[in-house]
Amino acid sequence: MHLVTDNPFSGLEAFVTENVPLARFTWYKIGGPARYLVQPRSIEELQEAARRCTETNIPIYVLGLGANLLVCDQGVDGAVFRLNEEFWRRIKFTGNLLEVGAGTDMQKLLLRTVREGKSGLECLAGIPGTIGGGIRMNCGGKFGDIGSVISTVTVMDSQGNIFVRTKDDLVFDYRRTNIVAPFILGATIELEDDHPDAIMSRTREIWMYKRNTQPLNTKNCGCIFKNPRGLSAGALIDQSGLKGLRVGGAEVSTKHANFIVAHKGCSSQDVLKLIKIIKERVYDKHQVVLESEVRIWPL
Ligand code: EPU
Repeated sequence: MHLVTDNPFSGLEAFVTENVPLARFTWYKIGGPARYLVQPRSIEELQEAARRCTETNIPIYVLGLGANLLVCDQGVDGAVFRLNEEFWRRIKFTGNLLEVGAGTDMQKLLLRTVREGKSGLECLAGIPGTIGGGIRMNCGGKFGDIGSVISTVTVMDSQGNIFVRTKDDLVFDYRRTNIVAPFILGATIELEDDHPDAIMSRTREIWMYKRNTQPLNTKNCGCIFKNPRGLSAGALIDQSGLKGLRVGGAEVSTKHANFIVAHKGCSSQDVLKLIKIIKERVYDKHQVVLESEVRIWPL
């Protein structure tokens, strides 16, 4: 038991800080602060902080690289967990089985697998994010998704109980999984042997496709909307004549219409207003309801 004080994280100050701006932890570089930022260095520290949240009813948010995230201007009145310390970024190869911590950067991991001559993660080329975030969203694209190579996922509930989910009970669909636990701690991934040059050339091809079709060198959060079944959100927005439409500092990308680019001075409110306008216009023109892919905090 911890001492009863006003601070729900009393005694955990080494890894819990208050009122921390989140913008710098996101690709958009916009949005307000977190009431608490929790950066545990071990499973025990994560368990203790999660239990404190549960005891005191503090909402839990888990941050990866913030690449698919829009934090609202008022920030998040809860505890934002960031699994970025060394323990969460571990990478271990045992033959063709790869064990990774949830905080591992997917692009760095992809390059390691290329060097080791292990194939399977090429479809992640050009997708920014951590393994934990990637699994949560079943990230990927037309070249495949991460779910197809996952062997096990270790998760934790808000009471600190840890479970290992295996391939036979995991479901990976388009941009979703059946994982409900709030924390993904790590995963094992099954890869195959191949020549590093062959893996690199497939990786480069996928990356070039993205570079040619997406506004990669801008501040964005990836695709804003999911593709409706059998349709392309980007094409629908484009056909609605919305490329280049601006609200404040937010603009529908002229390169790919399913991206909203944040220019200088852009606020999260600008992006939210533009999202609303896009949904309305696409519905008026095509009678299709677009569903957000980007995670918006607070929900
Ligand atoms: N298109 C247009 N106008 C546009 C954009 C696209 O007409 O402004 C057309 C393209 O010409 C193409 C079709 O729409 O015929 C599909 O476009 P694209 O090939 O760019 O793929 P996408 O479905 O828009 C998906 C993922 C991307 C992923 C790419 C490549 C979704 C919502 N998007 O894009 O994922 O990078 O495939 O694998 O599933 C993300 O999830 O954040 C993301 C960027």
